[in-house]
Amino acid sequence: MGVLRIVTFLFLVSCVWSSYGLCGTKPAEVPKAKTIAELAARYDSSSCQECHEEAYEQWENSLHAFSILGTPRTAPTILTAVDNGLKLFPYSGVKTDDDIEVRHLMMCAKCHLPQLEEATDDVAREIVATIRAWMKEEDEDKAEELEEKIASLNIGCMVCHNKLAIIHKWQDGYPQPDTVYGSQDGEHEDTAYPKMGKAPAMSESIFCGQCHGEGPNFELDEPSQCATLYGSYLFAYIPEGGHDTCQECHMAKSGLGHDMQAYRDGTMIKMAFDVEVDAMSHFWRKDRTEGIIPLGVINVEIYNKSGHAIPDG
Ligand code: HEC
Ligand code: HEC
Ligand code: HEC
Ligand code: HEC
Ligand code: HEC
Repeated sequence: MGVLRIVTFLFLVSCVWSSYGLCGTKPAEVPKAKTIAELAARYDSSSCQECHEEAYEQWENSLHAFSILGTPRTAPTILTAVDNGLKLFPYSGVKTDDDIEVRHLMMCAKCHLPQLEEATDDVAREIVATIRAWMKEEDEDKAEELEEKIASLNIGCMVCHNKLAIIHKWQDGYPQPDTVYGSQDGEHEDTAYPKMGKAPAMSESIFCGQCHGEGPNFELDEPSQCATLYGSYLFAYIPEGGHDTCQECHMAKSGLGHDMQAYRDGTMIKMAFDVEVDAMSHFWRKDRTEGIIPLGVINVEIYNKSGHAIPDG
């Protein structure tokens, strides 16, 4: 805790120093993390567990806690993007794994690990090397160790409650390194982030839309996008009169809180559909030789009650 306080203090001093009093009109400058371990430590959620036990346990079960590993389908797909994408694109600058830089992986990390922009290119190469080693490893214990290392990079508490908490930064300010953002201003005593700040859009769907957007992401040199559903929410559900936010369905009504889930979870499946089945048997006499032919008439109506197109992703 002591070390973290000193780090926070240094951040504040350097902010005042470097901007001559214009603190807060630019993103806070942070030193680049040089290893996976350093980046993981900067965004480690475990210190939040003791006081926010429920949110932690819910989050831990969600895919946000495995956003590079995935189900575990995401990590291998990142390698596919490297081998069948980056290495084949003539102008990407990537011929071998040694050429990989942060800017290359940002085409996935923009949403799967936005904090990667705070790391050196060595970390980008370490991520690719670790996934390769994990996929080849036959020893179960060693494979598990590598898997844990991959999973240590994730959309942790401070990705949502700090890094991405504020959308309109010229109006509401840049996220500060000593603050957790949520619904209120105040003290956040005895923690590595001694202040609480108000993030006006945290409870709005646009907050989730930052990563679950319809894209494409034209701010990238090589735009890339997973099918995901904020656009469908905005252009289909809302005009049809839907009025719940992402948070209302996925966090409140589901009762799952920070364990944001979809079709892998029974509660969500129950919330997803109104199904009406009407069945009738009917006998039809065709002719004398074949006799009576039984027919079944089944009418199934499925109504999508979720806030967007499904399935997705
Ligand atoms: C994917 C983004 C995301 C992640 C990751 C996340 N949160 Fe949240 N959190 C939210 C949102 C959104 C709200 C506001 C919910 C609302 O408006 O109903 C929230 C609300 C909260 C609150 C306010 C009380 C409450 O439960 O509504 C606390 C405390 C909190 N989060 C702690 C944490 C902790 C601790 C972690 C890590 C274990 C974490 N959050 C991870 C998005 C996130
Ligand atoms: C020593 C206990 C403690 C630790 C450790 C701690 N918190 Fe908190 N946190 C609190 C208390 C107490 C509040 C105030 C709750 C209130 O007033 O409703 C709070 C409030 C918050 C809020 C604002 C909730 C709101 O109402 O909008 C967020 C977000 C939050 N914490 C996130 C975190 C994160 C992320 C971590 C880990 C980096 C963390 N906290 C670590 C005790 C702690
Ligand atoms: C930093 C970007 C980011 C933010 C912000 C974010 N998500 Fe996610 N979310 C992801 C990624 C990436 C995945 C998929 C991870 C994987 O499997 O590789 C995901 C997975 C999910 C899933 C599980 C999907 C499935 O197939 O099971 C749900 C549900 C979800 N998010 C809901 C939300 C909601 C609701 C919010 C807002 C409160 C939110 N997310 C905010 C990036 C984000
Ligand atoms: C009216 C309630 C409701 C709203 C609003 C809503 N969702 Fe959903 N969502 C659901 C239900 C129910 C499911 C489960 C159905 C399924 O996955 O097939 C689901 C599934 C998902 C999935 C997985 C889709 C799939 O099947 O592959 C993601 C990701 C997701 N929601 C994110 C979001 C985000 C982000 C928002 C806001 C832009 C949002 N949801 C708004 C109810 C809602
Ligand atoms: C604009 C944000 C965004 C970008 C960019 C993005 N993804 Fe995703 N990705 C998501 C979200 C959000 C989900 C969760 C599924 C959903 O929303 O229905 C997801 C889901 C996935 C899944 C399925 C998850 C699982 O665990 O099975 C894979 C695999 C995946 N992404 C790989 C990639 C790769 C590889 C890249 C880069 C080439 C990439 N994504 C770029 C947002 C993004």
